[in-house]
Amino acid sequence: MEQKRYGHFDDQHREYVITDPQTPWPWINYLGNEDFFSLISNTAGGYSFYKDAKFRRITRYRYNNVPMDNGGRYFYIKDGDTVWNPGWKPCKTPLDFYECRHGMSYTRITGRKNGVEASVLFFVPLKKWCEVQKLTLKNESNEVKQLKLFSFEEWCLWNAATDMENFQRNFSTGEVEIEGSTIYHKTEYRERRNHYAFYHVNTEIQGFDTDRETFVGLYNEFADPQAVIEGKPRNSHAHGWSPIASHYIEVTLNPGESKDFIFLLGYIENEQDEKFSAPQVINKKKAHALIAELDTTEKVDRAFDVLCAYWDTLLNIYKVKSGNDKLDRMVNIWNQYQCMVTFNFSRSASFFESGVGRGMGFRDSNQDLVGFVHQIPPRARQRIIDIASTQFPDGGCYHQYQPLTKRGNNDIGGGFNDDPCWLIFGTVAYIKETGDFTILDEMVPFDNQPGTEVTLFEHLKISMDHVIKNLGPHMLPLIGRADWNDCLNLNCFSWDPNESFQTTENVSEGTKAESLMIAGLFVVTGKDYVALCQKIGKTDEAARMQQAVDAMIDAVKKHGWDGEWYLRAYDFYGRKIGSNECDEAKIFIESQGWCTMAEIGAEDGMVAKSLDSCKKYLECEHGMVLNNPAFTKYIYEYGEISSYPEGYKENAGIFCHNNPWVIIGECLAGRGNDAWSHYAKILPSYVEEKYQTLHKVEPYVNCQMVAGKDAYKPGEGKNSWLTGTAAWMWYTVSEFILGIKPDYDGIRIDPCLPETAGDYTVQRKFREADYDITIHPNGSQKGVKSITLDGQPVTGTVIPYTPGHHTVEVTM
Ligand code: BGC
Repeated sequence: MEQKRYGHFDDQHREYVITDPQTPWPWINYLGNEDFFSLISNTAGGYSFYKDAKFRRITRYRYNNVPMDNGGRYFYIKDGDTVWNPGWKPCKTPLDFYECRHGMSYTRITGRKNGVEASVLFFVPLKKWCEVQKLTLKNESNEVKQLKLFSFEEWCLWNAATDMENFQRNFSTGEVEIEGSTIYHKTEYRERRNHYAFYHVNTEIQGFDTDRETFVGLYNEFADPQAVIEGKPRNSHAHGWSPIASHYIEVTLNPGESKDFIFLLGYIENEQDEKFSAPQVINKKKAHALIAELDTTEKVDRAFDVLCAYWDTLLNIYKVKSGNDKLDRMVNIWNQYQCMVTFNFSRSASFFESGVGRGMGFRDSNQDLVGFVHQIPPRARQRIIDIASTQFPDGGCYHQYQPLTKRGNNDIGGGFNDDPCWLIFGTVAYIKETGDFTILDEMVPFDNQPGTEVTLFEHLKISMDHVIKNLGPHMLPLIGRADWNDCLNLNCFSWDPNESFQTTENVSEGTKAESLMIAGLFVVTGKDYVALCQKIGKTDEAARMQQAVDAMIDAVKKHGWDGEWYLRAYDFYGRKIGSNECDEAKIFIESQGWCTMAEIGAEDGMVAKSLDSCKKYLECEHGMVLNNPAFTKYIYEYGEISSYPEGYKENAGIFCHNNPWVIIGECLAGRGNDAWSHYAKILPSYVEEKYQTLHKVEPYVNCQMVAGKDAYKPGEGKNSWLTGTAAWMWYTVSEFILGIKPDYDGIRIDPCLPETAGDYTVQRKFREADYDITIHPNGSQKGVKSITLDGQPVTGTVIPYTPGHHTVEVTM
């Protein structure tokens, strides 16, 4: 079927260009890199928050609304009787031209109507707590234009959860102040909050509104606010109800003339004793200072240049030139960009994650870190410390923590027995990238309790021990509440639709539920841990753990092999899961991925057989499904997994996150053709061409799940942006396919490619060095024959690290 196109990649500008506002699902972007963040759709929908999408929500957004994507930063332009928005929504007045360019931490939306062009550049300047909206209005007609411009933002009453539910209070708490061209939002500032927000424009205004119902009208909508339709602001002052911020500006434009307006949505925190400048009047000193930094076009353009330069630097760290645009644009631009976004947000705030339910995941953030660590290592370092600080003395940990407080989230709890291993995965990646072993000596508390600090190395040790101390009858790891698959809840038995699978009782007494996924993960991270111990001279500890790893390998070979693939688990009663003996879900991807990455039983042909089985039973046109066949009914003993209809999510969806595990397994086995074909199936730039309509979600990033072959609509994507897929795709392509792998003493070069691959180069900044690496595959899938470093032959596959600029030639 011919697919409709909604846009295209612009690699030169590192943008995705959307040319039709009616995308099959809102296609969004993220603004902000550290503290102040915004989500923005291709029609300017979305919201902003400071650090934590739950506790410090600045503007309001309506999830799950009709129509979709309701709430955002809107500019209404009234030109005669016509009212339109540059992003088409919410008025939906047909435009003469529309374009949305999503770039690296910025979005530019341009609309044209009746000879007027309105272009808005949205971005969050580095290190500033604000969103800049630079609106340029241009008269392209031959007549003078008298325009009425209304801005619009709706305030969220800070806590995004209570904002949606506690109306008996909310409708009475709203407070604002208006000063010149700035509207201040100060709900709850009178009591315990020491923060406020503001919305400013750098020009004189001719009116304003701050009360939503007065502006919109009780029975009107964002599409036709009464004040805008009548061209008359009400100068309303919100007291309770729903405070908003809208500026009204009269603009005259001569033919050919253009004018810039700088709108600023800012967030300010004051010291407790400096909150007020007069009784009940907020101290606006910091707001004035922030505004002064960004109140002209020149200042804003400079801030934007700084942001672009920042992204130049980040994306110069790893650059491939392969002659394949689809590969290069994902590796050089979008995959790395998505890695930064997932590092920042974990699974908290997207158009599928409301920002309310989930904070930073323990396992999620460790994995995200592996996609990000080469970009800004100091931030990765801090993240490792933050994550480890939510661990308990026995090695267990909170499953999630809140970014604002950095405290474990009790609502989700713990008991996921894979969690501890991921700390090793993240830390090892950090040290290999940076060579900074001092992180192991950092003193890190348990559960954030001062006085409980031990070294980070100790945290790693107890993480390994947590697995060893929780083995089941087959000497395989007990699964706990669940392993990586949150929905395989083998100790949680629920017939009560009112309880959550994630928090319902986790029966540990008498359980025999063991996980082959954790077994594989333990072997992979255990080998890393052993190598680390050897590296830092802890030989006894290395030997101790090597024994545990060997024992685990034995246990998998003895009790975890089903003949053609690795078993998935044993249930509470010790019955096999993911076995040919089962009626449904005979094979699962997770254990194939981890046990092949761990190379368990490779010498006995297990790895090759498992990889073949993935191709035979799991692979389909759109990628590899999680399990096969799908569960067709709810199984009380398995928990949430079988609650999903066939082909969706953890029940035989294509969970893109774990496809790379099998791909790495393929790479380690030297099967480059298979690795590549799996990889290309879920690579957005390949998917873009074929499935713009079917796939639905953004064509420039991976999504968590694509409906599997058993689904009603196979190939449909969901849950875009925030997914471990980003980091795993990056790790897979950068280190295993293209084969440039940071190691303690240098860079290991070991590509695994399809036979068709031609010569390619990778420019890699590594610590204080720059490497220009050229690879000549010569039709080979795997196996480096020779390497030269600055013209001198290198023995082995690791180029030893020395600062400076180096040229590397690799022949396969
Ligand atoms: C969670 C991951 C989990 C995955 C599979 C995601 O939504 O964030 O932690 O591993 O689902 O269940």
